[in-house]
Amino acid sequence: MTQTRKNKNEFIWETIPSVEDLGRIRMSAMETFLEDFNAGKQEGRYIAGELPSLPFDRGQFDIGLSSHFLFLYSTQLSAEFHLKALKEMLRVANEVRVFPLLMLGGAPSPHLALVTEQLTNDGFYVEAKQVPYEFQKGGNEMLVIKNA
Ligand SMILES: C[S@@+](CC[C@H](N)C(=O)[O-])C[C@H]1O[C@@H](n2cnc3c(N)ncnc32)[C@H](O)[C@@H]1O
Repeated sequence: MTQTRKNKNEFIWETIPSVEDLGRIRMSAMETFLEDFNAGKQEGRYIAGELPSLPFDRGQFDIGLSSHFLFLYSTQLSAEFHLKALKEMLRVANEVRVFPLLMLGGAPSPHLALVTEQLTNDGFYVEAKQVPYEFQKGGNEMLVIKNA
């Protein structure tokens, strides 16, 4: 929260009107998650894993989502890591969606062009789609990748 307050001008304060509201929303999401965690673990709905290697079978899921991880940490994680991670997600899921396509700080990810080109060459359908949600300024696109 301290960091977000410091970088307040990087965000659009409409859907989430203030830093305090953001804190409340995040805390409420965390509480919802924690209330479900034990039951979810027992029912096998929460399984720990770490890209670029996932503990799931080929085609096990209809859809795989990466929210605020891939592309966001493009300074810390290489283009090669992104490609490996996305191919692994595409191994276990028929469709993969990634949001947002910006780095921390709000600049577009430098890995997007290369990843798009490589996945397209490998025969995947890749499209950057506009979405109605925009919190990080300019962060209103998601990448949709499908097995062709
Ligand atoms: C900024 S948080 C985003 C959390 C949540 N997905 C969201 O959108 O609010 C980044 C997340 O990436 C996860 N993460 C870090 N390294 C990872 C890896 N190698 N594979 C998968 N997830 C990773 C972290 O555990 C953390 O939950």
